[in-house]
Amino acid sequence: MTRTNIAKLKKMKSQGQKIAMLTCYDYSTAILLKQAGIDAILVGDSLAQVMLGYDNTLPVDMETMLTFTKAVRRGAPGVFLLGDMPFMSYQASDRDAVINAGRFMAEAGCDAVKLEVTGKHAHTVEKICDAGIPVIAHLGFLPQTIASVEKIVETREVAPALKLIDDCRTMINAGVSGLLLECVTAEVAAEITAMTDLPVISCGSGPNCDGQVLVLHEILDLPGALNPVFSKKYANIGEAIKNAASAYVKEISEQKFPGTENCYHILDKKFEQIKKSL
Ligand code: KIV
Repeated sequence: MTRTNIAKLKKMKSQGQKIAMLTCYDYSTAILLKQAGIDAILVGDSLAQVMLGYDNTLPVDMETMLTFTKAVRRGAPGVFLLGDMPFMSYQASDRDAVINAGRFMAEAGCDAVKLEVTGKHAHTVEKICDAGIPVIAHLGFLPQTIASVEKIVETREVAPALKLIDDCRTMINAGVSGLLLECVTAEVAAEITAMTDLPVISCGSGPNCDGQVLVLHEILDLPGALNPVFSKKYANIGEAIKNAASAYVKEISEQKFPGTENCYHILDKKFEQIKKSL
């Protein structure tokens, strides 16, 4: 089976072909995304919110991320799989960072890892890249810094926009294989996309990046989704699940389920024998 790798994503960029990426957290949905022709899957730490019900992404740890990532890999072999390094899996030391990035590759079968970074993380990123692990640098709004940063990176202003562009350059020089820009103004994101031959993925950063990523729960309209303005609902699966469950509840209360076709049966002759022996 040919696996999509960074080289394929770079080629897509050079040919002007846009990259479609979605988050995914489980085996059966991964099968469906592969069948739908998705180019890349991110097992985002957003799973802390949409799958586990936490208020933010901080509580999710390495073991949890690996469990979900392995399930997605089993459902979508061959699809470009991006593992999201959770809070405190790379911040404490470069050694932790390399070991944990390696676990995403060796244990979960990822094709690359993603880290939330600013220019300050250049050394850590360099170490991971030196280990032969492709890194996608996540810049702009960084959900893991929610406790210390109060608002979205203001790339509407000149100084923060220039700082972000500088951080992107630092990451490119550190050896990353791609960038993911979250909530960056479309104009600044377009500028960053044009300055590199590496794939640049937008999460709410406009149409001129090389690809787009959205959180699955948002496009499916499932509970737990944050529904930012840049997202879009493509189906109402939440409603479909609720309708199916209430139809089931109703059939049980009306004794319509299970029907005879939903039961295992024994031949009358044999059942008579059983009854006689009781
Ligand atoms: O965790 C996540 O789902 C993400 C995307 C929002 C980019 O990082």
